[in-house]
Amino acid sequence: MSRNVKVSVQKVLKTFGTLAAADNIDLDILEGEFLTLLGASGCGKTTLMRMIAGFETVTSGKILIDGKDVTDLAPRQRNLGMVFQQYSLFPHMTIAENVSYGLRARRTNAAEITKRVAEMLDLVQLPHLAERKPPQLSGGQQQRVALARALAVRPSVLMLDEPLGALDQKLREQLQEELRRLHRETGSTFLFVTHDQEEALGLSDRIAVMKDGKIAQLASPDELYLRPANEYVADFIGKVTFIDGIYRAAAKHVTTGEGLAIPADLTLSDGPVRLVIRPENIHLTDDTEGASGKLVEIARQTGTTTYQVRLDGGQVVKSRHLGLSDAALRLGTSVRLRFDTCKLAYPLAA
Ligand SMILES: Nc1ncnc2c1ncn2[C@@H]1O[C@H](COP(=O)(O)OP(=O)(O)O)[C@@H](O)[C@H]1O
Ligand SMILES: [Mg+2]
Repeated sequence: MSRNVKVSVQKVLKTFGTLAAADNIDLDILEGEFLTLLGASGCGKTTLMRMIAGFETVTSGKILIDGKDVTDLAPRQRNLGMVFQQYSLFPHMTIAENVSYGLRARRTNAAEITKRVAEMLDLVQLPHLAERKPPQLSGGQQQRVALARALAVRPSVLMLDEPLGALDQKLREQLQEELRRLHRETGSTFLFVTHDQEEALGLSDRIAVMKDGKIAQLASPDELYLRPANEYVADFIGKVTFIDGIYRAAAKHVTTGEGLAIPADLTLSDGPVRLVIRPENIHLTDDTEGASGKLVEIARQTGTTTYQVRLDGGQVVKSRHLGLSDAALRLGTSVRLRFDTCKLAYPLAA
């Protein structure tokens, strides 16, 4: 199924003095997709979004929406919805007035406004709060109103710049679910910005991983996880361990300087490589042939435990397990590790 391109960013450059906040970016956002800009603080996510919205000019390049060049159009002429980290509701207006704001600005007729506001408040499950004012609402409720307000004008793209950043963990998870549902039910195109990889993986159809004003990789969550295009992306998506060694295809393993043999099945030729190993592919084992080391960290997460093990040669690796940590395991305990066959590596210069 081929979908129309909703937003096309073409060779867009944005400089602030000598800094390229957007460095010749090319990006097509497809109709109806949930696309996320993911990257560390300062990599240029907000700048790119603001240029698409028209709040920031481009230094050079073009931006098209629905095939039409909007590079020189004002934000109002682009029909976009925006939601920011700060709730940015009008505190003196009721919730219903906040939601209807964009419709009134567009001179929509009164009957239509009433109908649309009711629909939007139903959509974000707050119909009972229509007559309240923002200060009387919790942070999560205010953010749902901001979503309703942005969606009320049926924007051609809904842009969300770290909209959950100010919320606590539990609320974030609820709002993430809400966002997925809103995306499904409206079928709108969502452009989402976050620095949180879990959030990006959980929400998005595709993710553009950004670094220094460039897109390091644009791909689906699965693709980013399974086939990160470079070390930067591999390291950013999931808590990987890099292990360097020499690959021998015939032996199907990589031998390290410390004398470890890690099973590997790579599409690379024999020689020096950097393996990318995820914590779920390293297991504690009773097998006395396993790589030996000592536990240096035990971290419990919900439903999983991550052990850090310093191998006898000095390298520290992470190993993640479902379930609670074994009470017999303490810091300093000697353990053995088994590695799954590693399929991901980057070539190193010989
Ligand atoms: N108005 C501005 N003037 C000067 N530098 C800016 C301006 N806006 C952003 N920058 C710089 O551009 C880079 C990208 O910023 P930004 O797009 O806000 O990143 P992000 O949203 O990924 O954190 C940063 O180095 C930031 O300091
Ligand atoms: Mg930002």
